[in-house]
Amino acid sequence: MCGIVGYVGNRPCIDLLLDGLERLEYRGYDSAGVALLDDDAALALRVRSVGGIAELRGAVARHPDAEALQASRTGIGHTRWATHGRVSEGNAHPLSDDGERVQIVLNGIVENHVALRSQLRRDGAVFSSETDAEVVAHLVAGALDRGLAEAVRHAIAQLDGHFAFVATSPQEPGVLVGTRRACPLVVGYGDEERFLGSALVGLPDDLRGAHALDDDTVVVARADGLQVLDARGGIVQPRQLLLADAGAHARPSRNGHDSFMLAEIEEQPQALRRTLRAQAAAGWDVGPLARARRVSLIACGTSYHAGLVGRYLLETWGGVRAETDVASEWRHRDPDVGPGDVVLGITQSGETADTLGALRVARERGAHVLGLTNASGSQITREADATVLTDAGPEVSVAATKTFVTQVAALAGLSLRVGLARGTLTPSRAALLLDELERLPDVVEAARAASAAPIERAVERWSDEGFFLFLGRHVGLPVALEGALKLKEVAYVPSDAYAAGEMKHGPIALLREGTPVVVVATDSPVLDKLRSNVAEVRARGAHVLAIATEGAAGVIADEADELVLVPPTDPLLSPVPATVPLQLLAYGIARARGLDPDRPRNLAKTVTVE
Ligand code: M6R
Repeated sequence: MCGIVGYVGNRPCIDLLLDGLERLEYRGYDSAGVALLDDDAALALRVRSVGGIAELRGAVARHPDAEALQASRTGIGHTRWATHGRVSEGNAHPLSDDGERVQIVLNGIVENHVALRSQLRRDGAVFSSETDAEVVAHLVAGALDRGLAEAVRHAIAQLDGHFAFVATSPQEPGVLVGTRRACPLVVGYGDEERFLGSALVGLPDDLRGAHALDDDTVVVARADGLQVLDARGGIVQPRQLLLADAGAHARPSRNGHDSFMLAEIEEQPQALRRTLRAQAAAGWDVGPLARARRVSLIACGTSYHAGLVGRYLLETWGGVRAETDVASEWRHRDPDVGPGDVVLGITQSGETADTLGALRVARERGAHVLGLTNASGSQITREADATVLTDAGPEVSVAATKTFVTQVAALAGLSLRVGLARGTLTPSRAALLLDELERLPDVVEAARAASAAPIERAVERWSDEGFFLFLGRHVGLPVALEGALKLKEVAYVPSDAYAAGEMKHGPIALLREGTPVVVVATDSPVLDKLRSNVAEVRARGAHVLAIATEGAAGVIADEADELVLVPPTDPLLSPVPATVPLQLLAYGIARARGLDPDRPRNLAKTVTVE
């Protein structure tokens, strides 16, 4: 959460900073700011505004020192998702000490900020924001006589929490100092210029290379060089190479669509193809999974829903005992996990604080720790014993779509290989399933085409409804959960998702004449039972939108007011095509309500706080 950028070099950098922040906006968009050094005047010019980068651009253009801002060659920028302190210009970053000797932009949380603030106040500091991060500006400013790099090293020794920040000071023109602890910070190199940022995507296309920084190291960047210091001040080399060649990183694009969400839904077949290819090429060792006493799949949000499908896949194909849990619950409930267990964290961003926290618990207790992520070089890749990568490409929309289907495909690929290794699957059955897996991109393409007309009708009919119920059983349940999550987050429609068999135990009381009920009725061993549940819903006057597999549709068709038919595949893979119409439903209802699906209120794409 929160995106940070920094530039030092020989070009005027305001546009580089603003463009980088725009690409990092998925990390937060409640307020934003930049600080640029004016070398002539030996001061920092700071511009902040509530809202996104568009609002910040306006504030920059209106600034009385616009000319100096345009000329500056050293600067930092921030796009915020508020944690401590409401959304206001005063709480927007960059933050400075009261003498404005230091400007900082920070991503993360300083957990001991209350104690530090009291101490700093006793020493005479005057605070101007309600943020936890401002203490960092005061700490660095208080030690500035040692030089900016030493002052940053001195500051982090006093901080508890997880953070990445970049500091600059008019007293040291042409220098940026950055550091990180459990939040990402990457450095990029150009000709006579250096960049810092929360993610590669925030840096320009024409980089000559990039590295990720290690925890508790301090990077000192100048136009012509870069030095990395460890916690004791010794010079070290950054270890993790992110980019070796210029222009090698993918730039997200709306591909002519009105939003990243729609572009990313449309891109799912390609994302699946890339992921399946990458998985085939990776030659990943499934030994630890195949030998596991039990596999715990731990994740948050949409990744948790992928994990719920993964449990079926690992148990049925892989023949291994599996459980799936929400990271924020699992890590705090004294989980029974230890040597012989595998804990697989699923996180598209690789940065989700609770998922990483859960993996640390697993590691402390002796479990083998694996990661499944879409972000190479992310925190989980550094912490897990091994990581499986999906290759969905950068996902910008806050609502996860293409990363969900690729996570399920990757879990299917793993389960298949575990099943072969454990002998649960015969080679011929595994070959058949592999064919099905490889057909998934086409199946998804066909599911999208088949969804267009019925989903358009459903949107027209139900976009003003105040409540939706989603029902599913077996692997249809995670799809129902995912459909309800999408509708909540991008269209703000109260929705609930339930195991259809549980409906009679409470939620059926919610139904009234015309309540829209979305039923995931793909091929499964319990399809007949699901049909009875749907009949019960209809008997209470609910209107049913059914997502059914062609071929199995006969079982459900007469109970549906609207029917989306998705192409058949193996029942355990059906969540992949069945999710597509629900993504389109949420997108369509958001649009019908005049909402921007890419920027849902209160949310950020990457949740780096607990
Ligand atoms: O990066 P992660 O996969 O760990 O993110 C987990 C959730 O924050 C994420 O899936 C969230 O629920 C999405 N906004 C859902 O669309």
